[in-house]
Amino acid sequence: MMDHSHSIAINDSNELSGTIVIPGDKSITHRSIIMGSLCEGTLKVSNYLDSEDCNNTIEAMQNLGVDIIKNKDHLLINGKGLNSLKAPKKIINAGNSGTLARLLIGVLAMQPFESKIIGDSSLSNRPMQRIIDPLSEMGANISSINGMLPIKIIPSEKISNIKFISKIASSQLKSAILLASLYPEGESMIEESIKTRDHTENLLKYLNYQINIEDKTIYLVGQKKMIAKDISVPSDISSAAFFIVAALITNKSDVILKNIGVNHLRTGIIDVLLEMGAEIKILNKKTDGFEEFADIQVKSSQLKPINLKGKITSRLIDEFPILFIACATCKGISRIENIQELKFKESNRIESMQIGLKKLGISVKTTSDSIEIEGGKIQGGIVDSFQDHRVAMSFLIAGLVSQKPITVINTSNINTSFPNFFSTLKEQNIKLYKI
Ligand code: S3P
Repeated sequence: MMDHSHSIAINDSNELSGTIVIPGDKSITHRSIIMGSLCEGTLKVSNYLDSEDCNNTIEAMQNLGVDIIKNKDHLLINGKGLNSLKAPKKIINAGNSGTLARLLIGVLAMQPFESKIIGDSSLSNRPMQRIIDPLSEMGANISSINGMLPIKIIPSEKISNIKFISKIASSQLKSAILLASLYPEGESMIEESIKTRDHTENLLKYLNYQINIEDKTIYLVGQKKMIAKDISVPSDISSAAFFIVAALITNKSDVILKNIGVNHLRTGIIDVLLEMGAEIKILNKKTDGFEEFADIQVKSSQLKPINLKGKITSRLIDEFPILFIACATCKGISRIENIQELKFKESNRIESMQIGLKKLGISVKTTSDSIEIEGGKIQGGIVDSFQDHRVAMSFLIAGLVSQKPITVINTSNINTSFPNFFSTLKEQNIKLYKI
């Protein structure tokens, strides 16, 4: 892994070409490690994401007594079943990862031992009350500082099922309650108002855990078994998005991104870019086990501005920063509404992106749940990542087409999700400087 604390992308704007290999999906890797640990039997997880966030998940499960062997291209998890976790030997550190913190708290809240979970400064400012409330309703004893990390969990006298109607469109919240519902006997029900990524549900089914899904409602009976089965993780569409937009906005580009996960609840970015006039083709679509994969071909395109609102936002929640860059490059005003959840990511992404885009000479207006971007020529300058990997990568991609170079302050956080981002850019002959 390369440590670029500050990086500069030089805008000599080579075209992008050939095949680009994108690392494994972060959401599915986290789930494979946590749920694989609760399976009965040994399973192999191939194409897992070897990044800081997912390595924290491996360490957390090892800390809970699970035997996980890390090989270069696969993980071996020796699961001993739902009730096999042991009291942690030390405090669990979720680092920068909201997915790890929230999903694992769902599991820990139902255990007969005490645990404490902490995170870095970004994660310690993200809301946890959304999971604490329903987990407490299930009987969990959770104490926190103002609904944020650090969190301490004390074993509960009695845990029970839940009928939970989620008002927040969050897969992490849904998944925390789904995983908690594996523990009490009897049936739990989890209903979403807007469908979010369903990797937890898909993996439960794949691992032989029976769940019933009726539209936006999931029914699940606790204390059944997950049976170990090898998992092949698709490549991450959220990481691919940076190179999809890079290819679209640079001249004469034509690239193929291989084996990308194209779960319908994750492909909002493709639908929106197609609507903006992008030349993108989905090729060789196939289902491998429990998720859909495809190759994505992208060619340079003249993009048009876009108006977006409503439930599409949950299908491209992590791709907004790079979508804003695409909007900043095309003539005209793009308006994106109902993005209140962006305030609770690794940084407040409405604010981080607004500050950076303005510094680069783009006119931006925001409210607490919307953004308006007037596309034009991106000038160049110095922008902060605000400790946010996706903000950092978005502005580095903007550097491919800016009038002058873009320096991004603090890019080491890219290691949380896309450790080979810089080497992938270099393979495309893009010059980068470390300052
Ligand atoms: C994720 C869900 C989303 C997403 C995050 C990963 C997951 O968060 O932004 O990067 O793996 O479930 P929310 O559930 O907070 O929307």
